[in-house]
Amino acid sequence: MPPKQDDGVLAAVSLADYADAARARLEPAIWAYFSGGAGDERTLRANVEAWQRLALWPRVLRPLAGGHTRVRLGAQVLAHPIMLAPVAHQQLAHPDGEWASALAAATQGAGYVLSTQSNVPMEQVAHAVLAEQGRGPLWFQLYWQADRGFNGALVQRAEDAGFEAIVLTVDAPVQGVRDRELRSRFSLPAGVRAVHLQDAPAPAAAPDTYCAGLPAHAPDWDDVAWLRAQTRLPVWLKGVLHPADARQVQSLDVAGLIISNHGGRTLDTAPPTAQALPLIRAAVGGEWPLIVDGGIRRGTDVLKAIALGADAVMIGRPMVHALATGGALAVARMLRLLRDELEMAMALTGCRTLADAGRQLLDPAVEARPDTFSAPDRM
Ligand code: FNR
Ligand code: LAC
Repeated sequence: MPPKQDDGVLAAVSLADYADAARARLEPAIWAYFSGGAGDERTLRANVEAWQRLALWPRVLRPLAGGHTRVRLGAQVLAHPIMLAPVAHQQLAHPDGEWASALAAATQGAGYVLSTQSNVPMEQVAHAVLAEQGRGPLWFQLYWQADRGFNGALVQRAEDAGFEAIVLTVDAPVQGVRDRELRSRFSLPAGVRAVHLQDAPAPAAAPDTYCAGLPAHAPDWDDVAWLRAQTRLPVWLKGVLHPADARQVQSLDVAGLIISNHGGRTLDTAPPTAQALPLIRAAVGGEWPLIVDGGIRRGTDVLKAIALGADAVMIGRPMVHALATGGALAVARMLRLLRDELEMAMALTGCRTLADAGRQLLDPAVEARPDTFSAPDRM
């Protein structure tokens, strides 16, 4: 009999199977922290349902030889468009924490974004990832801290460690109403620490009581410009949904945008990202790099995101579900499953490459009017 741990890793045939396996393994409060969303969790559910609701139109008899999943993201070519989103406190899922998920991503050629609130120091993560042949990009996510100097030092540290871009998360000036977390009485166990924030200066007392003074320390547009000037690394902004905000981001010297509602964890009833994506693609034009996350659980979801104008996608919760099920091995397998599903969805919709994936996959009327969507530059 193989050890029980392996059962979940190898028995899983879909991302949902990893969610089931993780739920059975994790303490209820930790499960609540990972899976929960804000308020009534309408956005959390809507993210998943919005991808599911879109129909893909199969196409037949198209030449598929020489097909591949490669995409261009800015200056880089990725083996496939699936990346792992920044998720805090991964030692809650597995003692190896972010080290394991990052290594798994690297072995699968998937991009990895390390959260500011990582439990493993960024240098250890970089050491594991950078040595891996065929790895995807390695980026550091910044949660803006009250002190500019501290932010600058953190970004410099990431640059020194070999991280290749900074992702500034802008959708969480406050955490959001976390009913599920509160009901479960979730708190961080002793020994699980946000290692990069141990020395973060405490914010000065705020003069107002609005949201307990927290938004007074949140970043604004000036801080984005400041950050841009601090580092030679590309800066991405994560957590934009409104097309007007997207246009403003585009006017700054940033690498691109990650369309996200934080996996439904911040503003409940915010629109699902599948709804925001085509509006933002239309607002910023065909060329500007866009990544989307939120509720992506199937290869068909990935293909739909590309068809709506994304260049790549990120996934959050499925990573921690796999991590809890079987560490790095399970995360690697989960990524492979999702990529296999994407390849099958491409073949069944007649897409040899992702450059073939446009709006016409979702709407047969579009092919007659190709000017309604100009596909971004894909390989
Ligand atoms: C997150 N997310 C997040 N985002 C971020 O910028 N920094 C962070 O530290 C975290 N931490 C975090 C913890 C947990 C438990 C979750 C579930 C999510 C949001 C994350 O990057 C991503 O936007 C969503 O998880 C995407 O949605 P799915 O794939 O989880 O549905
Ligand atoms: C969360 C924070 C850490 O969503 O981003 O829990």
